[in-house]
This record gives sequence, C-alpha cells and structure tokens, in this order.
Amino acid sequence: MHDLNGRADTVAEVVGRYRRHLGQAAADIAEKTRQPVESTGEGAWITDSAGRRYLDCGGYGVFLLGHSHPDVVGALQRQLGTRALSTRSMLSAELALAAERLAGIAPPGLDYVYFGTSGAEAVETALKLGRATGHRRVICAKGGFHGKTLGALSITDRLIYQRPFKPLLPDVSTVPFGDAAALAGELAADSRRACVVLEPVQGEGGIRIPPPGYLREVRDACDRHGAMLVLDEVQTGIGRLGAWWGCSIEDVVPDVLLAGKGLGGGCMPVSAVIATDRAFAPINRNARVHSSTFGGSPLAAVAVTTTLDVIERDDLVARSERLGDRLLAEFTEIAAVAPQLIREVRGRGLLLGIECARVELAGALLGGLSDAGVIATATLGSDIVVRISPPAILSDAEFAFLCAGFRSAVRELVAGTDVRSGPHSEN
Ligand SMILES: Cc1ncc(COP(=O)(O)O)c(C=O)c1O
Repeated sequence: MHDLNGRADTVAEVVGRYRRHLGQAAADIAEKTRQPVESTGEGAWITDSAGRRYLDCGGYGVFLLGHSHPDVVGALQRQLGTRALSTRSMLSAELALAAERLAGIAPPGLDYVYFGTSGAEAVETALKLGRATGHRRVICAKGGFHGKTLGALSITDRLIYQRPFKPLLPDVSTVPFGDAAALAGELAADSRRACVVLEPVQGEGGIRIPPPGYLREVRDACDRHGAMLVLDEVQTGIGRLGAWWGCSIEDVVPDVLLAGKGLGGGCMPVSAVIATDRAFAPINRNARVHSSTFGGSPLAAVAVTTTLDVIERDDLVARSERLGDRLLAEFTEIAAVAPQLIREVRGRGLLLGIECARVELAGALLGGLSDAGVIATATLGSDIVVRISPPAILSDAEFAFLCAGFRSAVRELVAGTDVRSGPHSEN
C-alpha cells in the first residue's frame, strides 16, 4: 500500500497493523515465518514488497488461472465501467448468462444455480436445501472440510475449529472417508432421510483420494435410502483435478454440486450451488426464501463466465490433467531420496499433497520451498501435509522451476534433519 506521496509501508508497519487490528495470532505467525508482504500478482507469479518473485502454487486452490488473468481483468474492467453491483430490483443479464454457462458444464440435470460469495456460503445453502426438502439429518466424512460458518463448521471435522463454538448443528454424524459400506450402514441405521455432504478428494483433510468406485457406491447408497447427495467441489471443481468435476471422473451425478475458489478466475470471490430441480425446489417456489445482497453481482457473474470461457478456449482441463500427471511423477521421484522424512506424494490433477513423517518437517518443507521461490500451503485439517496447487497456465519453464524448487527444499530438509529422531503424532 502506498500513501499519497507514494511511500510504501514497511513490513514492520504492516505487521504492526495486523497486531493492533487484525489479531495477535496472525501477527505472531507472520513474524515467526517471516512472511513477506504481497505486492503484485501476474500469471503464476506473485511479487513481494521487496521485489522478490515467487511461483504461486498456494492460494488454497484459488488461482487455477493464475493471478490477474488478462481476459478476466479485461471483462471486470469493462463491467466496472458499466455497472459494478446490482439493484436487485431489475434483471441482470450477466447473472443469467453466468448461470447458463455454469449449468452447461455441470453434470446433466443440474440446471439451477445459486451464486454466493464464499465456499462456506455455498455449503450453508446446500444444508438449507437439504432441510427444506425433508432431509432432517446430515452425514459427513471424517477429515472433511467445508468452511467455518456455523452450519459448515458443523460438518468440518476438526475439533480445534469446532470446540470454541459448540453447540453446532444437531443430527450430524461422521463416517470414515472412502468407505462406502460405512456410509451405507449409517444411512440404514436411522430411518430419517439424510443429506450426505462429501468432497470427491479431500483437500484440507490432506489431499485424501478415495478408492476407485467410491462415489458411485455412495450415489447408489444415497438412492437406496432416499438421501440427498451434496458434493462439495469448492476446491476440486472446474478443472483442478484434470476433469471438470471430481464426480465426472466416475460419471456420478450428485443432487447438489458446490463450486468456489477458482470460479472467479483468481480475481473475484464467488461461489455457486448447482442443483437439480428437485433439490432446488424450495428456491424455485419462493425466490426470497434464500438470498444475499452481494451474491451473483454483475462483477462476479462476468468473472464466472469469462473464467469458464478461458478454461474451454485454452483447454485447461486437459492441461491440468497432463501437468498433474507429470508433476506427480517428478515429485514422487524427488521425494524418494528421503523416505524417512516424506511418507507419500499423492494427488490428482493439479492438487498435490506431500505427506511428511512429522509436523515440523511439513513446516520446514514449506520454508524450504519459500526459500526456493515457491509458495505452497499447509492443509487446514492435516498438519503433516503440504499442498501444491499450481495454476493450469503453468509454462514448461515454470514447471521446471517448481520441480527444481521442490528438489532444493527436499535437499535442505535432508541436510537439516536428524533422521534418527522418532515419529511424532499429528495434532
Ligand atoms: C471443500 C471446501 N469446501 C468449502 C470451503 C470453504 O470455502 P471458503 O473458505 O471460501 O468459505 C473450502 C475451503 O477451503 C473447501 O476446501
């Protein structure tokens, strides 16, 4: 941030403001990990206030198109010059088009769209649709992450996030992820119809990939028991996994599909609920039963339409699959030199997880990557897993930079670690 005379804030000034106004803990972490101040973002790169460039493979999965994608920025600038927000008293052509485009890439039968701003808002909407269509209880998965608003938090399986805010929603049960028989057992155990909420690949839970056929068996079990299936693809959707949706990999059609993160092209916060007419019936009957002032603004809508246009035009879903396959192979080979430190590299498309043997190793790996000029992120639900979520626009040179960065971070990890120290449990 520059003042009126063009003077930029120092890192210490920014941290000071964090400490005084945004929270002590955030300031403590920033100081401890020597977080830089971000300045400009362009393509796969983010530059800090000191002018150092980093390849951004973090962003919690938001930057599928990288930063400041020129087509998305251009569309937003045009829209800003026309009309930024909606009166909500008249129709919005931008909103109608974005809904049509999104329904057009969703599995068949998912025709109705509700736009929100955050992923958690999409989850809340799905939970409400579940209730309003007679699904009086919720089943979610161990290790699942669905956001931190009160309803979403009730199905986000991590005690440190839930504990201070209890009691949460009643009638929520949790089953092991990847175990369709356990889900079927839970569905059979209670005659009330359930709303089942799952991720096709758990992102924050530590990039957990279920066994093949899992989603298909889940769908069948839901059908047998009259349950509503909500697939939360806020992190995995619109191409990140090398397919438009995680559920398309198994040809499974949920009743409700959720999108967010990359949906705004890395430029706008926007989420969406895409539903069958049956699941959407409460909103079809009464438009006012669920709404928000800023959801589906003209800016958000053009960001969605342009993002989908770019993904299609540049064939980024297939590119995500190709890059992801190569990345998994390279990272697996690099990590093989340190089997005592790195337990596994796993992933699908451009969502990779590196599972370390101990929590402090994950921290050190993140630090090593940052030293090498690569931003990665921890996963919010599993402290031993480092996530790599690169943009699908990555060039060959950037791909090579990422692999070199990982090689250097692993080398640093090996050099700095006493491999004889014993295992440590995850908290
Ligand atoms: C699968 C999933 N659902 C929901 C959310 C919540 O999204 P938001 O942080 O935008 O509320 C996240 C965020 O990481 C997520 O990964």
